[in-house]
Amino acid sequence: ARRPALSPSILNADFGHLAEAFRQLELGGADYVHLDVMDGRFVPNISFGLPVVEAARRATSLPLDVHLMIVEPERYIGDFVAAGASIVTIHAEACLHLHRAVRQIHETGALAGVALNPATPLTAVEEILPFVDLVLIMTVDPGFGGQALIPAALRKVERLRRLIDELGLPAVIEVDGGVKESNVAAVIRAGADVVVTGSAAFPPGGSTVEALQALRRAMQG
Ligand code: DX5
Ligand code: ZN
Repeated sequence: ARRPALSPSILNADFGHLAEAFRQLELGGADYVHLDVMDGRFVPNISFGLPVVEAARRATSLPLDVHLMIVEPERYIGDFVAAGASIVTIHAEACLHLHRAVRQIHETGALAGVALNPATPLTAVEEILPFVDLVLIMTVDPGFGGQALIPAALRKVERLRRLIDELGLPAVIEVDGGVKESNVAAVIRAGADVVVTGSAAFPPGGSTVEALQALRRAMQG
């Protein structure tokens, strides 16, 4: 059986105390740290960039799962890997030459992921699927934390799971957007190998360690 991984996003953390956020993620048993980079162009919001990835690299030994929600991501692949990214995920919608960009990521020594927005069909990754380490299925339109998961996007996860299994490919499926304690079991059942949790990992006024422990229990079904 697959052991699903937890990749909490720091988007909803207190940016004045990031080192503490990383410590809580380690204590809570996170497998990765998910870093949401937004440029205000690919998505209608600006989050953070290279300095925060570098700071994360210094503050934690967890692998950094960097989700680039930026246009022309190929221009910054080298910089994000140099900053400490273990996984670099770029959006199919943001990149004209996906095959070249994936090769670029691999040449830097990082793992390569390709992300799809909820309205983008699976066929957008069909040709690149044999070459990627990870496919990130967005279950909300990217840009903001705290949105509700779009149920139809889970059907897409199920179809991708079947496709990857039928073809015997190594790519793992990451699911990002609106995942919380009440729906994480369904997300895993749909076929996710890695789940991202932003707002559910940093409940306002609550404990991140406890939130992650609760998520982990819910993931087990
Ligand atoms: C959405 C980001 C997600 C998001 C997750 O734009 O890519 O990683 O912040 O946050 P929640 O879990 O609150 O949807
Ligand atoms: Zn993300």
